[in-house]
Amino acid sequence: MASSLISRRFALSLQTNLWLSAPGCRYVSKAAPKTQLEYDYDGPSMKTSVPGPRSQALTKQLGEIQNNLPFKPEMDSVTLVRSTSSVTMRRAEGTTWWTWTTTACWMSTLRSRPSQLSTLVNRPALGILPPENFPDKLTESLLSVSPSGMTRVQTMACGSCSNENAYKAMFIWYRNKERGHNMPSDEDVSTCMINKAPGCPDLSILSFNGGFHGRTMGCLATTHSKAIHKLDVPSFDWPMAPFPRLQYPLEEFTRENAQEEARCLEETEDVIVKWRQKGNPVAGIVIEPIQAEGGDNHASPDFFKGLRNIARKHGCAFHVDEVQTGGGATGKYWAHEHWGMDDPADIVSFSKKLLTGGYYHKDELQADKPYRIFNTWMGDPSKNLLLAEVLNVIRRENLLEEVTRSGKALLNGLYDLQAQYPGILSRARGQGTFCAIDICDDATRNSILLKARDKGVLLGGCGDRSIRFRPALIFKEYHVHIFLNIFNDVLAEHK
Ligand SMILES: Cc1ncc(COP(=O)(O)O)c(C=O)c1O
Repeated sequence: MASSLISRRFALSLQTNLWLSAPGCRYVSKAAPKTQLEYDYDGPSMKTSVPGPRSQALTKQLGEIQNNLPFKPEMDSVTLVRSTSSVTMRRAEGTTWWTWTTTACWMSTLRSRPSQLSTLVNRPALGILPPENFPDKLTESLLSVSPSGMTRVQTMACGSCSNENAYKAMFIWYRNKERGHNMPSDEDVSTCMINKAPGCPDLSILSFNGGFHGRTMGCLATTHSKAIHKLDVPSFDWPMAPFPRLQYPLEEFTRENAQEEARCLEETEDVIVKWRQKGNPVAGIVIEPIQAEGGDNHASPDFFKGLRNIARKHGCAFHVDEVQTGGGATGKYWAHEHWGMDDPADIVSFSKKLLTGGYYHKDELQADKPYRIFNTWMGDPSKNLLLAEVLNVIRRENLLEEVTRSGKALLNGLYDLQAQYPGILSRARGQGTFCAIDICDDATRNSILLKARDKGVLLGGCGDRSIRFRPALIFKEYHVHIFLNIFNDVLAEHK
């Protein structure tokens, strides 16, 4: 059970220890409300420095086999992890970190049953030989949380693979629409074999400044968050439009933010028109409901409604990339639900918290022939099994309501800290627990990440100088207060 992952005994002793031992004033959590739930979770525990001696030895061993360069400032070495759950990472040293950066990891709550064993141990090529219970499992898992207006779902392995295939689906749909039927000409067939139009048409996907959609070739052409992802890799000549840069606090900048969003919509429409004129029409628009990797950039429901209308007006498919936002962290299964639209998208892609990758789509976006959208695995049915159980836990324990509650506590705490440390923090923002805050500069941000790590809390950076908070869905308001106190201590050391 998700709630029994945390033991009250340990959580309370952790709270007591933190209150007694940590430096700096503890003003954020005046009284962390107690909860009736039984906890089986011992919070952060740091017994060695990072990297610890065992991690160093294992890192060396791994380096002899594959690339082991550190990839994040908060991980100044490759840190070997013995086990991981949705809340903790047990280090090779045997001590634990508290993960506030769970974009991908989810503790499975599945108890194996004999009937499920076969799915867990056999991996079928789903495109050719799906197991007989596959439709039922899809219905129990992914289809039970379908976005509005979508009854079809295509599973895939990872986020990039999902987006890559979603782009292909948009191109195929667009070309069939242009032809008026789905029968390619002989010229289409022969030219596609030599990478030439009309078989390989000049069509584009429009994406947004600061967006991130993955690192495969097509996805990379729509990724604009950091140069390191793109450097040295050839790309498509596809258009990019501006994503709004909102000013905070939102209530003080209503007029400016509305103007900024109107400017971005206008430029988006101009770009679509320009690209059509230059012979490379926009077949699809891809956007994240909250730009995550690019810095947790938000926009209002009105902006997304405007964009959806522009897509319709110009005959472009509208693809919402929920790889990072999907799965409940915003307080709804899908971040786009906050827009309040009946017809929010033509395609919605997902991965991470959904355990399997894939994309939902409108009926018209169904590829018309076999092998057009295809690869060997096409996902992994064991993940649907796990997801069905995870969704049961989410429903049974009202985790989306919990997320909304703890998200409010988190954001309010961040507002308080921002008032307390105006020289360090700004632009606190968030939806549910999908929150972020800006740090005065990149160097301070990285130092904060390291200090938090050394106090046992793993945080992640995003954009140029933001920190993103991604606690697991099972975190309660109570844990938010514990976290805010630790974060306060880290900030006090930077004052
Ligand atoms: C919004 C978004 N799209 C796509 C991806 C790519 O997913 P993956 O790393 O599984 O390929 C990510 C990964 O962080 C993401 O955040």
